[in-house]
Amino acid sequence: MEVVILNGSKQIGKLAADAIGELLRHKPDAVLGLATGSSPLPIYDELAGRHERDGLDFSRAHGFALDEYVGLPAGHPESYREVIRREFTNRVNIAPENVHGPDGTAADIPAACQAYEDSIAAAGGIDLQLLGVGTDGHIGFNEPGSSFASRTRIKSLIEQTRRDNARFFNSLAEVPHHVLTQGLGTIMEARHVILVATGAQKAQAVREFVEGPVAAICPASVLQFHPHATVLLDEAAASALKLADFYRHTYDNKPAWQGL
Ligand code: F6R
Repeated sequence: MEVVILNGSKQIGKLAADAIGELLRHKPDAVLGLATGSSPLPIYDELAGRHERDGLDFSRAHGFALDEYVGLPAGHPESYREVIRREFTNRVNIAPENVHGPDGTAADIPAACQAYEDSIAAAGGIDLQLLGVGTDGHIGFNEPGSSFASRTRIKSLIEQTRRDNARFFNSLAEVPHHVLTQGLGTIMEARHVILVATGAQKAQAVREFVEGPVAAICPASVLQFHPHATVLLDEAAASALKLADFYRHTYDNKPAWQGL
């Protein structure tokens, strides 16, 4: 796991966009795993800017959402399909038919989850998965206790996550209790994972998943087993890390050819 501590969101957005740009240049039909929430927004802004200014080309790329609420009607502004469309895919030239998400409106939820797994496999697997982390250590919506072997399935949100996400809705009551999420096993198969965390409210979760034991109580800690996981932090999110100076030193002296 590589930990990179940066001054702020702008720098995080640029570094992640560099990695995505590089991927698209050597693999124009790359498969991107797309997170929602606040954390990836600087990356989407930077990618939209590079598309606009420099012609960064997504025309052959594919996108797979990490998760989706269950029960929000199609077209609901806070459904993750809509959020991803608004925040990212509508702002670049990715083909709408190449953007996928688990179907939170399906009558047969297990079949919809299996179909989603099948569609990721049919696309050749995810090349680069963007992630945020919840204050309880969740990635995707794999709440504490999730199996490290889990695949796309329905999960119940813990109340803290519903409260954290209530800012996107008119009231806490509107936040769904259930979600579909790629499993930890699904996420672990992505060839490169970039997790972004910003702000002091994430400091404890970051300390636990980066430097604590690997345990289902902290789902993001499974990334310690990932062969290519990059963690991009601002100073506040990094503030509880014991080895922060070591991570800074390592990154400052990293050979330029390595990239992210
Ligand atoms: C979003 C997702 C969640 C968020 C996490 C952090 O698709 O899967 O795991 O990444 O809840 O959310 P923010 O970035 O809003 O703090």
